Amino acid sequence: MKSPDVIIRKGELADLGGLIKLHEICFKNDRTLVSKLGKNYIKAYYNWLLSSDRTFILVAAHNNTIVGMTIASDVSYQGPLLRNTLKAAISAMIIRPWLIFHPDMIRRFFDIIFFYKGIGKKTKIEPEVAFWVSLGISPECRGIGLGARLTFTMMQECYSRGARSIRGGFHKGNTSSRRVFEKCGFKVVPELETKSLIFMQAELKGNYQLEI
Ligand SMILES: CC(C)(COP(=O)(O)OP(=O)(O)OC[C@H]1O[C@@H](n2cnc3c(N)ncnc32)[C@H](O)[C@@H]1OP(=O)(O)O)[C@@H](O)C(=O)NCCC(=O)NCCS
Repeated sequence: MKSPDVIIRKGELADLGGLIKLHEICFKNDRTLVSKLGKNYIKAYYNWLLSSDRTFILVAAHNNTIVGMTIASDVSYQGPLLRNTLKAAISAMIIRPWLIFHPDMIRRFFDIIFFYKGIGKKTKIEPEVAFWVSLGISPECRGIGLGARLTFTMMQECYSRGARSIRGGFHKGNTSSRRVFEKCGFKVVPELETKSLIFMQAELKGNYQLEI
């Protein structure tokens, strides 16, 4: 398959089933809390990201099948996401109580406790900085430039919505993600680095060349 055979468009609620399927394929061995909480939580997660006016999802579709997606937010999204998916998270944790010790849970707990003492200042809200949330390409469509094409389109959309830079974090060992972001002009922000995560940021200028 070639990248031009795939169309990129805004995701809508009708895409929910396709996005869940893609998530399950792309993040099969993913250790993040979202994936570990199970299908019902993943459904609530995408439902909120599709419905919220601060976030948007772009989907890459081939013959009506979703083969790629990326998500971005105009402002920090973790708090509202958690509040709006709390019921699904609690239901998922009742049957998976061991997840209370998941590293993402522990990090979130410390963020809440220490935010007002300054440790959380790294994640403070900054005007005009958009947040990259996620990116996933179906395995049979990888390596043809689709990840970069989706990312450029997302950067264009963030610019149109008023952002002037975009930031995102991912696991340090994720070399293909890092390559996609480097191709799209992102640079590492060393002061945000944690033991397991790396953060990258790009300035947004609009008018991206999309014919990759
Ligand atoms: C990360 C991901 C989105 C990349 O998508 P993609 O469509 O294959 O990306 P592209 O084709 O645009 O570019 C990939 C680049 O990474 C490089 N790459 C791919 N796999 C790589 C690897 N294991 N090591 C180093 N570079 C790699 C490719 O060579 C290419 O660079 P190039 O154009 O200079 O040759 C895809 O691999 C994926 O969905 N992974 C699983 C989900 C995930 O980890 N998402 C990101 C974190 S949320």
